[in-house]
Amino acid sequence: MTRISLTVDGAKVSDDVEPRLLLVQYLRERLGKTGTVIGCDTSNCGACTVHLDGTSVKSCNVLAVQADGAEVTTIEGLAQNGELHPVQEAFRECHGLQCGFCTPGMIMQSVDLLNNNPKPTEEEIRLGLEGNLCRCTGYHNIVRAVQHASGQSEEAHA
Ligand code: FES
Ligand code: FES
Repeated sequence: MTRISLTVDGAKVSDDVEPRLLLVQYLRERLGKTGTVIGCDTSNCGACTVHLDGTSVKSCNVLAVQADGAEVTTIEGLAQNGELHPVQEAFRECHGLQCGFCTPGMIMQSVDLLNNNPKPTEEEIRLGLEGNLCRCTGYHNIVRAVQHASGQSEEAHA
């Protein structure tokens, strides 16, 4: 066992974990953060995406011990004071989801994308989300949602 201390969605936590425990398992099974989901066992789908010190990572691809000392934000930590994050709001407004399984990861990746590129082109959005798979939407409304969140909604609806 290895002792880790980190901040998750604003709360400080410390735990003894197996060195092989994945961050996604730690979040879901120890902390009950089941908003972060597991969609594959090949690091392909992106459903497990969270922010590690402000940068998106696939949490099935990170060991919990690697998050020691870090700040982790999950989909459950995005809303502030009962208000949805603007990207969450945009997904809702633009119908950027159907079954919703990919949505936590899509939103976390989209937030990171917009942090790095506040006014992305459609191509940049598609490229930025290429590590996140969606079986339902055909991606069109997801791209619209990101454009909407970036304040480019007129182009999005054109
Ligand atoms: S669960 Fe599919 S990439 Fe992490
Ligand atoms: S909304 Fe169903 S997988 Fe994306």
